[in-house]
Amino acid sequence: MALPDDLTLTVNGREHRLRAAPQTPLLYLLRNDLALNGPKYGCGLGECGACTVLVDGRVARSCVLPTRVALGRRVTTLEGLGDRQQPSAVQQAFIEAQAAQCGYCINGMIIAVTALLEQDPDPSETTIKRALRHQLCRCGAHVEIIQAARRAAEIARARRIEVHEADPLDARSPSL
Ligand code: FES
Ligand code: FES
Repeated sequence: MALPDDLTLTVNGREHRLRAAPQTPLLYLLRNDLALNGPKYGCGLGECGACTVLVDGRVARSCVLPTRVALGRRVTTLEGLGDRQQPSAVQQAFIEAQAAQCGYCINGMIIAVTALLEQDPDPSETTIKRALRHQLCRCGAHVEIIQAARRAAEIARARRIEVHEADPLDARSPSL
């Protein structure tokens, strides 16, 4: 068994010092050590997407990602996108669209849509379906989830316009 090591992990913009074997799946440290319970343990095999996080802006399955791969990179979990007071555009859209039944898959859906909108701010339905094709929902909430993804693009667009109108020189993009 690998011996524990002192690891420095950057999650949601904060550095954390953790003692763990570098091979430990990232999900275990996020949930058990950092109490970040947005990412869920579903299959544990990299197949369902419930555990999805962003690593340097790219979707990653944290249940099978050895923590050593995330060292020196930016890890973002659901908690890092926004909160109850200031949800990200994608979080807001999922709330508005009531796009959940049990909710277990929703972490992965929101993270995947966030990554998609970073690449394509106005995705077609086909593009959304392609981006979500490996995120599994056992409740069958797919229709609402796709509606939420489309709504997220609208909200993000409206927020960009608001920022621009408030300060035409402000080039920041509001969170997706
Ligand atoms: S729990 Fe990670 S992909 Fe299913
Ligand atoms: S809402 Fe239950 S798994 Fe998707």
